[in-house]
Amino acid sequence: MKITKAVIPAAGLGTRVLPATKAMPKEMLPIVDKPAIQYIVEEAVRAGITDILIITNRGKDIIEDHFDRVPELETALSSRGKTDIYEQVVSSAKLANIFFVRQKETKGLGHAISCARSFVGNEPFAVLYGDDVIMGEDPACGQLIRAYEEFGLGVLGIKEVSKEAISKYSSLKVENLKDNIYKCTDMVEKPQKPEEILSLYSILGRCVLPPEIFDILDHTAPGAGGEIQLTDAMKELARTKGMTGVDFTGKRYDMGNKLGIMQAQVETALKHSEIGEDFKAYLKELAKTL
Ligand code: UTP
Repeated sequence: MKITKAVIPAAGLGTRVLPATKAMPKEMLPIVDKPAIQYIVEEAVRAGITDILIITNRGKDIIEDHFDRVPELETALSSRGKTDIYEQVVSSAKLANIFFVRQKETKGLGHAISCARSFVGNEPFAVLYGDDVIMGEDPACGQLIRAYEEFGLGVLGIKEVSKEAISKYSSLKVENLKDNIYKCTDMVEKPQKPEEILSLYSILGRCVLPPEIFDILDHTAPGAGGEIQLTDAMKELARTKGMTGVDFTGKRYDMGNKLGIMQAQVETALKHSEIGEDFKAYLKELAKTL
């Protein structure tokens, strides 16, 4: 079955980026001239996704506004002959069929995903975490979709993280199947003791899930941090049916932390068609003073 639906959870509190995220959702933080979430929507669309559900909560209405038309602004831009920016403003409203639902209480990523049940129905679907931007030629989400089509199992986007960082992520039990694809049969969320670490491979930012995940989420008890963890539900899937993991290509930026935000902004600015050259010259001068 062709995967055409994606869910973007964007209902977290973003406490690591306060006070910037007090009134502004972290998903709307700009990476040069587009909000982070637009890069994520564009990645999904490039991977063949046509229908996207964004999970929001109170105070995140501007995400909805961003993917809407703005007639007054569009008229002003076109009457002033600003064709290029007009096209860009209109295009964000035409990327895909975008739907919104609110997670009424912040009870964790697993709980957020369960809010997508009626949108998803009985189909496999992609999940793109709203604060993980992945830049690359081959959209990461598309790499996972291809693995789903090949193996018929839920797929995790995986990367190795450092020993020091693994306690903040999940740790996966993996075995190589071919190239950058692994079989995953077990996982632990935020391992705190060395003996809990299954490998340094961790789930980062993307997955493709079968619809069975919703029944599993229904009986998943709150885990780490008292939240309903998606990892706990995926663990059940991995232990029973097995899952695969794709060590995806592409550069991931964690927009949920300050350093990740700055890395995304600097590296994207360097490649930007309008300001790239000037920014590089500025950065070289600045680097001399460091
Ligand atoms: P995080 O673990 O980064 O949580 O969520 P957070 O609340 O956004 O950030 P901090 O830790 O307070 O700084 C990972 C993804 O899951 C979504 C977030 O929006 C993010 O995309 N999420 C998390 C929800 O949609 N709902 C939740 O209840 C929790």
